[in-house]
Amino acid sequence: MRSPLHGAWRRGRHALFAVTGMVLVTLVSASGAQADAAFEGSSPGNAETVAEPLTEIELRFSDPISLNETETRLLDADGTQLVYEPVEIDGGNAWLLEPAISLDEGIYGVVWQAEAADGHTVRGVIRFGVGDVVLAEPAVEDEGTEASVDLETELAAAEELGTGGGGGPVASIASAISNLGVIIGWGVALFVAFVALPRMTWIGRYLFRIMRIAGIVAVVGAVIDLASQLLGGSSWNLIAAALLRFLAGAALAGVPGMVNGSPFVWVLSGAVIASYALDGHTVTAGPLWLMVATDAAHVTFAAIWGGGILALAIALVLVLRKRRQEASLVPDGSELAVRFSRLATYSVFGVAVTGVVMAFFILPSPGALVTTAWGWILLIKVALVAALAFFGYRNHFNVIPEIEYVLVQRDSGSDVVKEEREHLGQLRKTLGPEMALVVAILIMSGLLVQASPIAG
Ligand code: HEM
Repeated sequence: MRSPLHGAWRRGRHALFAVTGMVLVTLVSASGAQADAAFEGSSPGNAETVAEPLTEIELRFSDPISLNETETRLLDADGTQLVYEPVEIDGGNAWLLEPAISLDEGIYGVVWQAEAADGHTVRGVIRFGVGDVVLAEPAVEDEGTEASVDLETELAAAEELGTGGGGGPVASIASAISNLGVIIGWGVALFVAFVALPRMTWIGRYLFRIMRIAGIVAVVGAVIDLASQLLGGSSWNLIAAALLRFLAGAALAGVPGMVNGSPFVWVLSGAVIASYALDGHTVTAGPLWLMVATDAAHVTFAAIWGGGILALAIALVLVLRKRRQEASLVPDGSELAVRFSRLATYSVFGVAVTGVVMAFFILPSPGALVTTAWGWILLIKVALVAALAFFGYRNHFNVIPEIEYVLVQRDSGSDVVKEEREHLGQLRKTLGPEMALVVAILIMSGLLVQASPIAG
């Protein structure tokens, strides 16, 4: 026998295919996105020749960075590492490398690596000449001074690593996976704790299974994230964020039943909110307190809405399937639909307002919306949210008032189970495509956090 979930899947599959296609296209473009602080140039510049002796090399960035002194190397023509003193200037927007002995005639290179404020790694190389030398690629001889194979090998190897570390494709995929697990698992937990009434014990039995699955997905995402952070040498805040998401996922997978009437749901909420406050552009943009508060509200509304849609869909599938218990389950289903609809309405506004506030502080200029990977991902995300809000709008103004009316009739003693089933069936039909949209939005949000709003 075909399960009712099968029907919902069939109805939602066109939407799912469409959004999967969009997600894949964006995934490919987002993987080339840079980390946040862009390299703005150096003095001497790349491929520039300056008069001898040279006493300092300046590296400039669009935003404050922390120079990785172990990975940043000053090399001479033989590829030998020279001793230098790093000096931070302009609040970390620029760094001076002061060689212990001033640089005489010759060809030199700098392999630099730094961490942006959000922990993403940026790296690059510059090569320059001092005195009467000719710089060319590949290196050519000039009066006995040349860029030896050793220097070129070192610089080429460093160039192959690319310009960005922490915010690369692996981090984007990890972020998308953990968003799916954490937000959906947490949202379902909030639904069980605050939308379902204590008498609806049947709901827990089924939704705990979903929380377990979401918890496992969150753990997988967090483990990939942690491995990429540890291998990439990321900063403590990104590692702490991944650890918190790992713990939240493990708790959802291991003890989902604890959300019922225990402080666990508050601990879980605290851990998830803190994890999101520690990474992404929350830590690089705008006044920190405002970004942290807005981000906390944004993810909470996102979980209530996104996780709630999934929880309600599953609850309605069960309500409509269990014919023998319909006298008790159908009224529960109607009550859940009405209670969730109220919360979802606040959440739509909440998520939109907080999202726009964050975008305002993160975007360096309005033009960046169409000139950066971050801007394009945001536009696609907003289009998906608009489609989801359209479904919500239709339900809120068509199906939910019908259910409310039937509830009033039931309270006055009429037998309205048939009408109730009909309206709940109508509502369930739209929840398939809505679930597909939530999944796509969460994947987009993961890509957004790892992309750069700085054009380059
Ligand atoms: C008009 C609607 C929305 C706008 C304008 C918006 C905008 C944003 C922005 C600007 C960010 C910060 C990205 C960054 O750090 O680079 C963000 C993060 C996020 N959004 Fe949305 N969003 C919207 C709706 C939603 C919805 C409906 C959901 C889920 C159902 C959602 C889930 C998330 C998640 C999980 C994050 C990651 C938070 C973090 O890493 O700190 N958003 N959103």
